[in-house]
Amino acid sequence: MALVSAKEMLQKAKAGHYAVGAFNINNLEWTKAILLTAQELNSPVMLGVSEGAGKYMAGYKTIVGMVNGMLEELKITVPVALHLDHGSYEGAKACIEAGFSSIMFDGSSLPFEENVEKTKELVAICNEKGISIEAEVGSIGGEEDGVVGLGECADPEECKTIADLGITMLAAGIGNIHGKYPDNWAGLQFDVLDAIQQKTGDMPLVLHGGTGIPDDMIKKAISLGVSKINVNTECQLVFAEATRKYIEAGKDLAGKGFDPRKLLAPGTEAIKAKVKEKMEVFGSVGKA
Ligand code: 13P
Repeated sequence: MALVSAKEMLQKAKAGHYAVGAFNINNLEWTKAILLTAQELNSPVMLGVSEGAGKYMAGYKTIVGMVNGMLEELKITVPVALHLDHGSYEGAKACIEAGFSSIMFDGSSLPFEENVEKTKELVAICNEKGISIEAEVGSIGGEEDGVVGLGECADPEECKTIADLGITMLAAGIGNIHGKYPDNWAGLQFDVLDAIQQKTGDMPLVLHGGTGIPDDMIKKAISLGVSKINVNTECQLVFAEATRKYIEAGKDLAGKGFDPRKLLAPGTEAIKAKVKEKMEVFGSVGKA
């Protein structure tokens, strides 16, 4: 199946009270692991690409080629959206040009009027091309690939203004943070999420910083309108851990254990297990 916009999958998720996982990809192993797991579980899925990862993987066109090739060669039939994560205005345009089926424009660090103006401009382009678009209000805390957010909660009125521009999905800061959560983390601000949901109605809401949020908070967020959850660091952590174990056990020194296809296999399997675990918690299994 060809890449699809995230619009239909997220509207279905919102109506059905589950969430679609958006897992960041960093290389071929990551991408293959996520796609095969989605297919096995019959779940819709989104592949997130940060601008940093885009450069690392030799550009957006390379990524589009790789993902389209995998959809065909691995016979993936579940809905898959290829999505730019925390894009700049220029990055969003480059991804649209390269053939992404979904983009995010993160204007949360701009003055609000400028965020509105640029989001509006990109909505018009995306609508014309049938691409889904995510916007952000209230920044997500922590750092991801050089994009740093202070983690302030979104203003529900501003969320409504942005939602009314015709975006597909809205990322709203509710105390969530990229990367590991600090021990003294206050948790998700459900009163803010509730107020945002009241103002934005049917708009699918996006929860960034999925790593380390306890399952009960994830489920509560879904019950309050979250229909897409982003996960990155958790896949990175399990990949690194499995690879470290392989090397510490000296397996790279035995026979042809140094072959990258063998060296990266445990990490790939660990990502598959993590993605499966997340899809089960998000409730997207069997919803393709
Ligand atoms: P984590 O790295 O905390 O899982 O966050 C992922 C994310 O929100 C990508 O935008």
